[in-house]
Amino acid sequence: MALREIIILPDKQLRLVSKPIEKVTPEIRKLADDMFETMYDAPGIGLAAIQVAQPLRLITMDLAKRDESGETKHEPRVFINPEILASSAELSTYEEGCLSIPEYYEEVERPAKVRVRFTDLDGKVHEEDAEGLYATCIQHEIDHLNGVLFVDYLSKLKRDRVMKKFEKAAKRAAE
Ligand code: NI
Repeated sequence: MALREIIILPDKQLRLVSKPIEKVTPEIRKLADDMFETMYDAPGIGLAAIQVAQPLRLITMDLAKRDESGETKHEPRVFINPEILASSAELSTYEEGCLSIPEYYEEVERPAKVRVRFTDLDGKVHEEDAEGLYATCIQHEIDHLNGVLFVDYLSKLKRDRVMKKFEKAAKRAAE
């Protein structure tokens, strides 16, 4: 496994629409392994391949829970070519963040439940109902595959402010 660099705003690659994965090759498995290492290192709970500059429809996620003894129970999951099949009318609000928009958090309202179809690393197709944090996370990550960021759901004022902040930081870093 290897750490990969996470691209951040205002990197234009974040606006690319990622391509479907036709076959799970050793390269795709390696990419998924690297994405887990990068995600755990960050640390984060979800990562889309485009965040490590690979425009492919691949997501890693681990909504690890702490059990009663305080130990973290890891649940690493891979989603290849994920699709939202249905969304609930009911909405829920979570404070979201993104590894490509570091140290910025805002509340976002999304459908509370979604039905999702995806392929795993063995090429098996699954359909699942997601709710709670899982529903929010999978919607946030699928958005990445379509070049959409959570700041797109904020008011223009808030979005302009965060975009400017990251543009300025990038300029300073380039000087
Ligand atoms: Ni994100």
